[in-house]
Order: sequence, then C-alpha cells, then structure tokens
Amino acid sequence: MQASSMEASNSSIALEISHVATPGLPVLLLGSSLALLAVFLVYFYAPFWSLRTVPGPPTRFPIGHLHLLAKNGPDVFRAIAKEYGPIFRFHMGRQPLVIVANAELCKEVGIKKFKDIRNRSTPPPNVGTLHQDALFLTRDSTWSSMRNMVIPLYQPARLAGLIPTMQSYVDALVDNIAGCPDQDCIPFCQLSLCMAIDIIGKTAFGIEFGLSRKAADAAGDDGGGDGGGDDDDRHVRALAYEHLIAGTKTTAFTVSSVVYLVSCHPRVEERLLREIDGFAPRGRVPGADELHAGLPYLDQVIKEAMRFHLGTYVWLAPGVLARDAAQFPEPEEFKPERFAAEAAEERARHPYAHIPFGIGPRACVGHRFALQQVKLAAVSLYRRYVFRHSPAMESPLQFDFDLVLAFRHGVKLRAIKRTNT
Ligand code: HEM
Repeated sequence: MQASSMEASNSSIALEISHVATPGLPVLLLGSSLALLAVFLVYFYAPFWSLRTVPGPPTRFPIGHLHLLAKNGPDVFRAIAKEYGPIFRFHMGRQPLVIVANAELCKEVGIKKFKDIRNRSTPPPNVGTLHQDALFLTRDSTWSSMRNMVIPLYQPARLAGLIPTMQSYVDALVDNIAGCPDQDCIPFCQLSLCMAIDIIGKTAFGIEFGLSRKAADAAGDDGGGDGGGDDDDRHVRALAYEHLIAGTKTTAFTVSSVVYLVSCHPRVEERLLREIDGFAPRGRVPGADELHAGLPYLDQVIKEAMRFHLGTYVWLAPGVLARDAAQFPEPEEFKPERFAAEAAEERARHPYAHIPFGIGPRACVGHRFALQQVKLAAVSLYRRYVFRHSPAMESPLQFDFDLVLAFRHGVKLRAIKRTNT
C-alpha cells in the first residue's frame, strides 16, 4: 500500500518535472549555445581587442589578415606599412603580431626595450611542443639558460676549427654539380640543402647523414619527432631539431640566392671571380680570418642577395626595411656595391636597416656559422664554375612563405665549367 502510494507520488513528481522541463530544454540549449558562442568570441577576439589601438587593416573572421598575404604575397608587409605606417597589426588567423618596419624602431624594440619584450609571440596552439621547447619560442629564464648553453658552440675559434668539415661537404656539392647528368638543369636548391643538412649533422651532432654522397635521390624533407622525457631531454631534442631546421633551409636558401642572382648579373660575376681568383691559389682552402675579412666583395654580394630575397616573418619586418628607397636607393636593383665600406650609401644608412639575422640578444645564434659556410661554398663553386639560368628556370620566381622563405620550385641552373683556372 505504502509502496504503491510512494510509486504514485514518485510518478507524479516525474510527471511534474517532465511537465516543467519540456518547455525549458530549448531554452537551456539556447542558453548554453549562447554561452559557448560568447566564450568562443572572447577567445577569438581577445587578442584583437588588446591590440585595437595599433593601426592595421580590417580583419576578416576567422582568417584575420591571411587574405592579404594571399593577395600581396611577399609584399604584404610593405603594402600595409605604406598605408598604416611603420608599426601595425597583422593577424595570422587569431594570432596577432605587431610588426615593426622602421630601422630606428627596430633598434628601440630589439635592443633598448629588450628587457620588456624579450619573448617572441605566443605560438598558435597547432605549433608542436618540439618547436615550443626550442630557443626560438622558449621564454624568459628557460630561453636565457638555453641560449647560454648554445652560444659557446658558435665562438670564432670553434667555428674556425669546423672549416675542414664544412669544406668536405662543399667539395661534395661541387662534385655533385659535376656529376649531374643534365648540366643545363642543375637542381641547385636541392643540392645545397643536402650540403647544409650534412654540415649541421656533422658539426652539431657528429652524425654523418650522407645526403651529399647520394644527392641525386636525396629528398629535402625534414621531419621531426616528438615525445615525452624529462625537461632536459625535451629541450636537447628540441634544440637539435631547431638547429636542423633553422640552420639548413636558411643557409641553403642563401647560397642558392647568391648563385641565382649572380648568374644574371654579369658585371657582378666578373668582379666576384676576379676577387676569388686573386686572393689565394685555387687549391687552398681559405682560413677563418680570410673568410671573415679577406673577401670584401663576396661579403657585399651576400649582403645584397640577403637584402634582395628577405622575407623571414618575424615581428621585425626586415623585408620592408630592405626595400626602403631612403635606405637603399633603387631598391629593386641588385647592386652589391651599395654595401662597400666606402660607399656613400653605406655610410648614410641606418645601422639597423639591414638585419637579415635579426638584432639584439635574440638575434640568430648561427649567424657566423651560416656566413662561413656560404662563403666557403661560393669560393669553391666560382673557382670551378659560372652559372646561368636554366631554360627550365621559372620566371618570375615564386616563393613559399613558411617560417623560412624558400624558392617554390627550386633554382635550376646551367653549370658552365671555367676553362681559365
Ligand atoms: C643564412 C642563414 C640564416 C638566416 C638568414 C637566419 C635568420 C634568423 C633570424 C632572422 C632569426 C630571428 C632573429 C630575431 O628575432 O631577432 C634567427 C634566429 C635563430 N636562428 Fe638563424 N638564420 C640563419 C642561419 C642559422 C643557422 C645556421 C643556425 C644554427 C646552426 C640558426 C639558428 C637560429 C636559432 C636557434 C634562432 C633563435 C635564436 C633565439 O631566439 O635566441 N640560424 N635566425
């Protein structure tokens, strides 16, 4: 009896609840959807809101300013700077960047205000932990202790000791060019990337990757592993991976850029060959000091090639500075002489107008390592060859704008053996 009356009262409660809940459910669903939408909008627009006072073009949901990148390609920062001035916002989707495109302001931000702005922007969530644990993206004291650990590897005395190793892979590059079945279509980017990966493998990790030795079928794809492990392990693994990426594509791109540009500027080529032929007998590998200061014209050629094809996307916009006619008259011309120590243009230029390796305490750690390698390669290549664009070389050039700028379809060159050396 009691039970059945309880059952009856329970079912009446259930009825009452279902009676009340039925019309409330849509309201509840609507309420939670609105709450979710609000959370999403706050998540999405908070970064935009925090930078609303910084000038910049209107954003598009959800891509931010990426449509401008698609429209303007490499000129995107220049186009925005022209309209909005030297400090502006650029939204990579949700991720906002404040771009600085003026030499004096770069100095202010990269050096004077370094204490306040020492970390790079927080990476988007899709950037893997391996990237986040390496130098480029680590922050504060983790960054400074990692940087202190790495700096000794790039001291001048150690770099000088690496010359024989670097030269052996440079020789392999020259041999690979000689061994190419089609001398009218040398896949230069691929071969120089094999060289750069082998050099980093051997000098940074003591590992023989051997890509230069089997370059014909080498793929230039760098993969990366990830995983657990303790903090030290994680950072060491990330540093190794970062060095492989940061220290190979960048250097290979620079060597390819130099050779590509020199091959279509005969006057520059002539002067460069004269300097390279004149400074030491052909068989002698240049020493570190000679590479550093004994080849001033090669130095100018490399600087100009790096100005010409500069596009690394960092918060400093070196690519915009590099095309500023006030700092580089006739910026569309390839003129290495603009960097000659005695040139009026060089003396008048702001010291931070040309910053392909960044500036301040966060500048590129591999700067000298890269230049030593690029110069060794240039000396060996031009002792044996001159280059011309292959008929298979596209024009105009197309680029890929990843973290590191790259030639989309490589650089294809015709190798011509020099007979007078
Ligand atoms: C021509 C070749 C190279 C170019 C153009 C280049 C350019 C750059 C630039 C622009 C930055 C950012 C600097 C800033 O934010 O102020 C950077 C950072 C870095 N580069 Fe390079 N790089 C080159 C070669 C190398 C090599 C060979 C290595 C290593 C072997 C390397 C390792 C790094 C690392 C680890 C960072 C992060 C530094 C930090 O945040 O403390 N780079 N590089």
